This record gives sequence, structure tokens and C-alpha cells, in this order.
Amino acid sequence: MGRTRQAVLIILYALMTVKAFEMEIIPANRVVAQIGETLVLTCNSTGCASPSFSWRTQMDSPLGGTVNNHRTYSTLTMNPVSIVNSHHYLCTVFCGEKEKKEKSIKVELYSFPSDPVIEISPSLVAGEPVTVLCKIPDVYPSDRLEVLLKKEEHVLHEENFYADGSTNTETKTVKYSFNPMAEDIGKEITCVAKLPIANMDFEPKERVASQKLNANFGPQNTIITASPGSSPMEGDHLKLTCVTESNPPPQIVWRKHLADESIQHLVENNVLSIPHVHSTDSGLYICEVINLVTNKTEKATVDIVVQGAPSIAELSIEPSTTVQEGQNVSIQCSAESNPPPKIILRRKSDRADMGSYSDRRILLLPSVTFLNSGDYECVAENKFGKSKSEITLNVEYGPKNTMISVIPANTVKEGETVTMKCTSSGNPAPVISWKKKKATGESEKISEDATLIVQNIKSQDLGLYECEAYNQFGKEEKVVKLLVQGRLEKTDQMIPLIIAFSSVTAVAVPVVAIWIYVSRKAKINGSYSLVKALRLKV
Ligand SMILES: *[C@@H]1O[C@H](CO)[C@@H](O)[C@H](O)[C@H]1NC(C)=O
Ligand SMILES: *[C@@H]1O[C@H](CO)[C@@H](O)[C@H](O)[C@H]1NC(C)=O
Ligand SMILES: *[C@@H]1O[C@H](CO)[C@@H](O)[C@H](O)[C@H]1NC(C)=O
Repeated sequence: MGRTRQAVLIILYALMTVKAFEMEIIPANRVVAQIGETLVLTCNSTGCASPSFSWRTQMDSPLGGTVNNHRTYSTLTMNPVSIVNSHHYLCTVFCGEKEKKEKSIKVELYSFPSDPVIEISPSLVAGEPVTVLCKIPDVYPSDRLEVLLKKEEHVLHEENFYADGSTNTETKTVKYSFNPMAEDIGKEITCVAKLPIANMDFEPKERVASQKLNANFGPQNTIITASPGSSPMEGDHLKLTCVTESNPPPQIVWRKHLADESIQHLVENNVLSIPHVHSTDSGLYICEVINLVTNKTEKATVDIVVQGAPSIAELSIEPSTTVQEGQNVSIQCSAESNPPPKIILRRKSDRADMGSYSDRRILLLPSVTFLNSGDYECVAENKFGKSKSEITLNVEYGPKNTMISVIPANTVKEGETVTMKCTSSGNPAPVISWKKKKATGESEKISEDATLIVQNIKSQDLGLYECEAYNQFGKEEKVVKLLVQGRLEKTDQMIPLIIAFSSVTAVAVPVVAIWIYVSRKAKINGSYSLVKALRLKV
């Protein structure tokens, strides 16, 4: 009895651990696959140590896939899955000699892989008919396909393919022609393709594509707008905007009249920007628009006049700022501004209504003299302000107006001091030197100073003193003579009375002539009156 119980327990144990022989197909019953993708069916067995697998279609058509057997399962791979795989597949599992189980699965196929493609042809001018093509690529089954063409929300055309006997994927095309109105330009044409298959589970069942209704035109009505206007103030931020009607949008090139190259300022799309406009930015601006599709070009122009206070561009002296007497000189001033400036060109030391005055840009000074030397100013003025500039005219000339003054001018007694001062004008300033004529007739240089002081005067100091003024443009000499006019009598001795006087003479004038004249006068008249007579202007 005890033994029997033991045997029963062992059998029960074996029944519990060894499962019954079963099989299944994964996925179960039904699969929906898109043509072109990969589909794997798995046939799995349990409860059999070494099962063997067999795949077939219900109609015994070719499998259309690859079988891979593993120890407890087998796979059927369809890569890619195609229309030939649209079957019921049956998997049979044998376990040993006697046991066999089988199951089937239905493979259902569809194809709706991509959005429709819209072609609107030809892309034309408004008013001409437009044909819209909507292509739905690789559809299956196409007899379920429904297509809708819409212009915005308005349905233009509807089409289905219920009559199709589709046996494989097909690209379906829907075509529709209509006459677009001008207001249709820019509206969206939409193609909605639907593939509603009842009881079949796939996404998406609807695909949509859209495109704008384009009519190529222009460029036309091209204009330039200027901000803050075509007469900006100096320093303003000038923006020129080129406005045009064109589809597709045109290429824009900015140019300036008489400028060789196109402008590179700050061009952004159709806007030319000049952050700080300057008078030199004045000019004619050209915007050229080119529609590359219609192959049309149009131009617009704007004349920009930058307003502001004048600035003097040039103030110059011809032939040079340093000239010699006798040359013809012109002083020129140029200033730019808008409105045009009033230009006054004059000598600075003169009053506005006197002397060398010009409201023209050129001041002509024929045959200049040293009197024309000095600072000249140019004043350019308009209602926004004025600008001033200066230039110096330097006229060079030889020594002139050389003069000697003698102190004291009257009489000196022997032993006293005489001061002789020589001045001369000239440009560059003349170099002055003194010479004394000796009894032999030769002249001897005695001083390089303009002022000659003879102290403790004696009879041997009498005679002719020559002052020479020299620069690179010439020299001028003046002569003064010291002579004895008479003697004052004192109780015990005679004191020589020396007459100091000067004679105004150029070196060309014979010195002797004056000497003779003076001597003669001296002889005739008394000493005092004679002194008076000789008090010559120096
Ligand atoms: C087969 O089925 C068993 C039990 O359900 C499971 O554990 C196993 O992963 C399956 N094998 C395959 C290849 O699906
Ligand atoms: C555009 O016009 C020019 C001159 O009229 C011509 O040479 C060119 O081939 C045209 N281009 C196109 C794309 O039509
Ligand atoms: C200055 O101008 C005058 C007249 O215009 C002319 O006769 C004279 O030769 C000129 N002088 C010089 C130095 O050019």
C-alpha cells in the first residue's frame, strides 16, 4: 500500500511540471501591414521538447517570406511585405509522431506612405487658367481613395476611385483646371487624400498637402520712400526703402548716380540705411529691382539733398601763400552746403564793407604789394549756421622806407653823445648795418646794430654815416652827416658846436648833392637859423 501511494505521487508530480503541448502565432489572428515595410510572424510552441514547424498559405501559394526555425519557435519574415503576402498564413507544429497543432493568421495590406504632392501649373499671370495636379503616391487599395481639392475652405473638386480594381500600389493623380481671380493670388490650394478602410486599423487615414496659388508678376509700381524725407538734415539717420510689387520677391540693387559701384552702406533687403547722413551723401539714388522669374527689371530714383550748415572744403592762395610784390594773387574759398552758402572772402583786418571784399569764391589781387599781406578769412553761411577759415598771405619785398633818426636832433657839444637809429621795413625783415665813410673815400663797417651810439663826440667823429638795410630782395641805404656848425665862445675856450642831422636819400641819389646843398645853406645863414633849416624830416 505504501509503495502504491509513492508511485501515484511521482506520476502527479510529473503531470504538474510537464505542460501540455500548445502553440500560438504572434501576432494573433490578424495583422495590418503597410506594403513595403517588414512583417515578422512568429509561431511559438510550448510543452514540446523538440517541435518541428511548417508554414503555408491557405491556397498553397508561395510563402513570399523567409522561414527561420529555432528550437521552440519559428519566424516567417516578409521584407518587404508586398501584395503577394495578402493571405491567411497557417503554421503547423508537430510534436513527435502523433501530436500536431495549427493556427492561422490573416495578413491584410494597405499602402498610404506619403502626403500628396501638389503641382500648380503653369505658374502664370493672373487671369490665365491654372491647372492643379494632386498626386497621391503608392496607394493601396486605391478603390478606397477619396480626394478633395480645396481653395482655402471652398471645395473646388472631389474625386474617388471606387471603380478601380486595384491589385497593387498605384500613384493616383487628380487634375483640376480653373480660372483664378486676381484675389485668388496667395490663397492656399489644399489637396486632402483619404483612405478609409473599415475594420482596418492604421494611421494616418488622411493625408493633406497645400500650396499657395502663385501668379508671377512684376516688378511694377516701384518707388523709393525716404525717411525722414528727401532733404534730411546733416547727421540724420536716413532710410531709403524701395517699394515694389513683384512675385516672387525681386532682387534689389542700390546704386548712386555717377558712382561706379553699387552701394554697400547698410543694405538690408529693400532698405538702404545711412546712420549719420553727410552732405557728401547727397545725390541721386537708384533702386533696381529684378524679378528672376518674369525676367523683368524696374528702376526707381530719389534725389537726396542733405541740408545743413556749410563747411569750408578749401581755402587756398594761388600761386602760394608766400609771394613777391608784383605777382598776381588769387585767394579761393569753396564751401558746400544746402541751401548753398553765402561766401564772404575778405581781409580780416578790414571791415566787411571796406577794402578787399568778395562774396564770390575767388578774390583776385593783381600785382600785390606789401600792403596786401595779412590774414584773410572766408566765412560761409546759410540759415543753418556758418563756418570760418583763415589763411595768411605773406608778400615778400625788399627794404623800403629806410629811415634814420638822430637824437638829439638839434645840436650837440663836443664831448656829448649822439644816438643814430636806423629803421627799415621789408619782408623778410631787413638786416641793418652801419658804415662810416673815411677821409680816403672808403666805407668802413662800424656796427651791425640798428642803433649807433657815438659817445664823447670829437671832431674826428664828424663825417658821413651810412645805414644799409638788406634782405634777399634788395637793399636800401640812407646817409646822415655829422658836421661842425660853429663854436660857442666861453671865457677861456671855444667849444665846437656839432650839428647832427640826417639826410633822407636813397643810395642812388648822390650823397654829395645834399652835402653841397646843406653846406651852402650853412654858409649863408647864421648857425641857429641854419639848424632850423636843416631839421629835415627823417
Ligand atoms: C513563446 O511562449 C513562451 C510562453 O508564453 C514565452 O515565454 C516565449 O517568450 C515565447 N517565445 C517567442 C519567440 O515568442
Ligand atoms: C532674361 O532676359 C534677358 C535679356 O532680355 C535674356 O538674355 C535672358 O536669357 C532672359 N532670362 C530668362 C531666364 O528668361
Ligand atoms: C597780372 O595780370 C595782368 C592782367 O591780368 C597781366 O597783364 C600781367 O602780366 C600779370 N602779371 C603777372 C606777373 O603774371
